[in-house]
Amino acid sequence: MSNEYLNVSRTQDEMPSSSIEAALRPPTLSEFVGQEGLKENLRVFIEAAKVRKEPLDHCLFYSPPGLGKTTLSNILAREMGVNIKVTSGPVLARPGDLAAMLTTELNEGDILFIDEIHRLNPAVEEALYPAMEDFTFFINTGKGAGSTTLKLAVPRFTLVGATTRSGLLTGPLRDRFGIVFNLGFYEVKELAAILKRSAGLLNIKADNEGLVEIAKRSRGTPRIANRLLRRARDFAQVRGNGIITAEIAVLAMEALDIDSEGLDTVDKKILEALIDKFSGGPVGMENLAIAVSQEADSLSDVIEPYLIKAGFITRTPRGRVATAKAYKHLGRKMTPEGGLF
Ligand SMILES: Nc1ncnc2c1ncn2[C@@H]1O[C@H](COP(=O)(O)OP(=O)(O)OP(=O)(O)O)[C@@H](O)[C@H]1O
Ligand SMILES: [Mg+2]
Repeated sequence: MSNEYLNVSRTQDEMPSSSIEAALRPPTLSEFVGQEGLKENLRVFIEAAKVRKEPLDHCLFYSPPGLGKTTLSNILAREMGVNIKVTSGPVLARPGDLAAMLTTELNEGDILFIDEIHRLNPAVEEALYPAMEDFTFFINTGKGAGSTTLKLAVPRFTLVGATTRSGLLTGPLRDRFGIVFNLGFYEVKELAAILKRSAGLLNIKADNEGLVEIAKRSRGTPRIANRLLRRARDFAQVRGNGIITAEIAVLAMEALDIDSEGLDTVDKKILEALIDKFSGGPVGMENLAIAVSQEADSLSDVIEPYLIKAGFITRTPRGRVATAKAYKHLGRKMTPEGGLF
């Protein structure tokens, strides 16, 4: 998508957020903000593979949503100068689906990106092992006594897997990745830099203080930062003079029920349940999820990691516990019988 297109602000709002997201993806490692250690290592691996004229080793990215896994996978392809074919765990329903991708869609050195790789069906996962290791694919033809196994050659490719739940990956699959990276949450400074870049691309006017206020409330997550930026722009247009200042940013976040720590109503409901219904914990994730009518999976993938990172919840062998910071943030007094305290 060209920047020209993005400069028409009316059109942006009609764009589905997924295409805005694609347009905001940094195309190169140097434009990718933060994750410094990871970038440094990737640069070495890319350079070494290029010198040896070999495909990059198979690569696994894991992190909570919105931290840059898909973005990095696309950057890898670009920096290696290869094509990327995108699919996902649930889409590859049968080994035949994988065979088709590997044998007809990939050229030597290309990247096969499998998103949500923890959701691969076990039969597909097993078929993937020899493809990753020896670039061969075994496919069964026919049924019963007349069945035979065909051995197909697969071009030397790089598998890039992404997952929000590395804990659900089987050992054998994880062991077949030569490169494994965990993306962490971003600092406020880094998010502000991401927002500055996005504001430039989307032709949004904002001052630095305004961007910092948004960055502080973005839960360490670039995707959330970019979304809040677009909402703050709405408030700047309607309630201000079109520029996102600190005041406008705070106004917008308050209107969206996002507090000074970036917590939204769901986060607060969780902390309240933990403190008020379970005396601060410890409580198991399943019970907590039921108390706030959320799926346990999304609670532990999407919501909890940031609450832990920000110091509102700790994980203990007996379950989740609210911290002193959580009590203070919600204005609750810690009682002697409250949780572990
Ligand atoms: N380091 C970064 N620098 C600049 N922008 C970033 C960075 N990381 C992510 N983004 C922005 O955040 C958005 C979300 O990133 P991305 O889609 O790569 O996340 P993801 O980890 O793949 O999420 P999911 O788990 O939901 O698939 C992208 O549109 C991109 O613009
Ligand atoms: Mg993704």
